[in-house]
Amino acid sequence: MKFTKYPVMPAPWKLNDKYFEKFILNADIQSKITDLAAKINTDLAGKKPVFIVVLNGAFIFASDLIKKITIDCEIAFVKLSSYKGTQSSGVVQQIIGLDLDLKGRTIVVVEDIIDTGLTLDIFLKTLAEMEPAEVKVAACLLKPEPFKARFPVDYICFSIPNEFVVGYGLDYDGLGRNSEDIYKIV
Ligand code: IMP
Repeated sequence: MKFTKYPVMPAPWKLNDKYFEKFILNADIQSKITDLAAKINTDLAGKKPVFIVVLNGAFIFASDLIKKITIDCEIAFVKLSSYKGTQSSGVVQQIIGLDLDLKGRTIVVVEDIIDTGLTLDIFLKTLAEMEPAEVKVAACLLKPEPFKARFPVDYICFSIPNEFVVGYGLDYDGLGRNSEDIYKIV
């Protein structure tokens, strides 16, 4: 018997009530991270930067990025949160961490995704009170459309449309962080 061969469409990923489809492959993420790390290594050579990783979402991106940083650096973690489900709550709910003296230091804040920019905007104001020499922002993803804040995003892997994404550390209601690829909502 002969069957017509259709191209195999990957099944969407179901997380609770929502479906997601593959969007950015890990190989492409790694290649962007290699370029980004090379730029940071050049820009911040001799400055001994402190990478401040914003938990939870940035843990995978930060791990991949920082493994490719070859200059002397320190790493610290903070936890901020303004999301419930697929919408920003507009309120930064938690700030945990940061017992380092950041006065006079070069800081690189490492974020998974910048959407409205509200979460980071508030955090950057808190950081400024600690009198660092300079603060850079590195993010895996940026959504330029909803971005409302004024701070510069110095290092970015991908600018994406205003759609909800999961995977590579990003979650939907706690699920989906464990995928090596990034998915977008269907
Ligand atoms: P912002 O304050 O609107 O920029 O949101 C920043 C935080 O919201 C990020 O660090 C993520 O944790 C979360 N977030 C924003 N957009 C998405 C998304 O598309 N998927 C998953 N989390 C997101």
